[in-house]
Amino acid sequence: MERTFIAIKPDGVQRGLISEIVNRFERKGYKLVAIKLIVPSKGFAEKHYHDLKERPFFNGLCDFLSSGPVLAMVWEGEGVIKYGRKLIGATDPQKSEPGTIRGDLGVVVGRNIIHGSDGPETAKDEIALWFEPKELVSYTSNAEKWVYGVN
Ligand code: GTP
Ligand code: MG
Repeated sequence: MERTFIAIKPDGVQRGLISEIVNRFERKGYKLVAIKLIVPSKGFAEKHYHDLKERPFFNGLCDFLSSGPVLAMVWEGEGVIKYGRKLIGATDPQKSEPGTIRGDLGVVVGRNIIHGSDGPETAKDEIALWFEPKELVSYTSNAEKWVYGVN
């Protein structure tokens, strides 16, 4: 089953938004398969955002990501990579629709609360960067047969 990497950034953690955000993914019907709270080093943040290293905001972005606890998660579900990004909303909270996480909870692009992998390759790479294989928990949730209609 498809998996994606989702992280609540230091602003989301400090603002007490963990339960609100986890709740949205849970209620949708996705399954949590890994979770941990960590303070990434600046070097680790640079690895995570390596594809943005030419952008003018790269240094500030990596300073920010490494400035406090980040809640790193892996969520599993059919179409979770693409639809997870829909739940999150546009990069800039001012362009995010109401009803999305960034639209409802954020105001500026530099403090947009949450990260989500932007495609299958990125999801694979980011899960491998943030988690060891043994930290990913495979299990059947009781809800699955009701979410997917399978026995
Ligand atoms: P992530 O899920 O965090 O990867 O965001 P995204 O995929 O919606 O956007 P992208 O990967 O292009 O940018 C990564 C992060 O850089 C964003 O979430 C923002 O926090 C930050 N960022 C992107 N564009 C800007 C910008 O123009 N200015 C500033 N200050 N930050 C930006
Ligand atoms: Mg991105």
